Amino acid sequence: MELETTAQQEKNDAGTARKVFVKTYGCQMNVYDSQRMTDALAADGYAPTDVIEDADLVLLNTCHIREKAAEKVYSELGRIRQLKAARAEVGRETLIGVTGCVAQAEGREIVRRAPVVDLVVGPQTYHRLPDMLARVREGGKVVETEYAIEDKFAHLPQPKKAEVARRGVTAFLTVQEGCDKFCTFCVVPYTRGSEVSRPVAQIVAEAERLAEAGVREVTLLGQNVNAWHGEGPDGREWGLGRLLYRLAEIPGLSRLRYTTSHPRDMDDELIEAHRDLAALMPYLHLPVQSGSDRILKAMNRRHTAADYLRLIERIRAARADIAMSGDFIVGFPGETDKDFEATMEIVREVGYASAFSFKYSPRPGTPGAEMGGHVEEAAKDERLQRLQALVAEQQHAFTVSMIGRTMSTLIEKPGRKAGQKVGRSPWLQPVIVDEKAGGIGDIIEVRIKGTGQNSLFAEPA
Ligand code: SAH
Ligand code: SF4
Ligand code: F3S
Repeated sequence: MELETTAQQEKNDAGTARKVFVKTYGCQMNVYDSQRMTDALAADGYAPTDVIEDADLVLLNTCHIREKAAEKVYSELGRIRQLKAARAEVGRETLIGVTGCVAQAEGREIVRRAPVVDLVVGPQTYHRLPDMLARVREGGKVVETEYAIEDKFAHLPQPKKAEVARRGVTAFLTVQEGCDKFCTFCVVPYTRGSEVSRPVAQIVAEAERLAEAGVREVTLLGQNVNAWHGEGPDGREWGLGRLLYRLAEIPGLSRLRYTTSHPRDMDDELIEAHRDLAALMPYLHLPVQSGSDRILKAMNRRHTAADYLRLIERIRAARADIAMSGDFIVGFPGETDKDFEATMEIVREVGYASAFSFKYSPRPGTPGAEMGGHVEEAAKDERLQRLQALVAEQQHAFTVSMIGRTMSTLIEKPGRKAGQKVGRSPWLQPVIVDEKAGGIGDIIEVRIKGTGQNSLFAEPA
């Protein structure tokens, strides 16, 4: 569908265009999905708003990864119930929808626990949102958590050029969704379904559209992005590496990234892409979760700590300045002090530019939740603190190592302080420059003069 030609926005009772407020939880894929839902709803007459009180439709795009993430939704729904009541008093209707991974995992249970909800939609059927809303307006609740047969990506409308520009000079592009890995702690294979790769032509067309609208940096997304594969125009089977070579040819697309990768799917061509492509940024998020082989096995990661370290060696041989980022879980069932020490050790050996660490959270329906040997909360807390202190130290060292270096910076937006602009380094750090250093979307060479907490202060080189 071409959005440029959609009809005028429908009017609500108050005579203004209908408005939708979307709140996004969880990972980057949810950010991407929220944008695509907003695009689908724009075609249906809804304008996006950042003010929840103005919204005729509120969507919570949810995350199920840890218990805390899932519980946030219900406390938010409590607040929204009051909002809906307040709007009803002045004669305005508010529809409430829950989308994303909690929607997929809990389905009808959400309506039971929170009757304020009108609509529950899993991630595979966002293209049918306008239809579902029509059904809600006819009366009754709609719960849709089936996996659609049709390709939702082919049915989701692309945003207008102006909307892409409004979103900025960096963009996400989902190339792969779902996961077949079944790590024993993880809900994603259940909430996002099995692995699906989008076709090459669809991805290239979307990337070209983004570039034409002024996007300079694209991050390819997938729960298992490096498992992406598809048939190329040459009739051969392409992997993510080959796809990156192709995307690097698109005029204007100066920077490419991809996330999240699984260590088992880093093939030679992808590593070579890091060696060959200037556009491919030297920053890689490659979660390992634990440094203990025993725990890795129980997690069903299907690699050892040594495999991971060897892999990083190969990646660094291809691209010396690559910075690593990772994810860690502490307190997986059966994790002993010794296992945890192995995790601390792998962090020391790799040296991360950044890393995310989490206390293990048993998730309903996953094998991990059924395992014996659950670790006490106090031990989890203590391990998490120690790990986070180590990671913070490494992150700080990495930031400080930037002083005096010259690097490219993509100018993204005005700074928080007057007279400044904020850019992004190849390693995802915010770079503060004088506003006259360049325009938004420019990629300039800067020299780093100093550092803030995680940001860099720079002057044009
Ligand atoms: N697809 C990605 C990320 C999945 S979710 C991958 O394979 O790496 C992001 C992170 O959340 C994971 O890497 C893991 O560290 C963490 N996580 C997932 N399930 C968890 C759970 N049950 N408890 C605690 N952390 C969890
Ligand atoms: Fe979850 Fe593992 Fe799949 Fe990542 S690879 S999404 S952690 S099951
Ligand atoms: Fe959360 Fe679903 Fe992403 S569970 S991390 S929103 S894939």
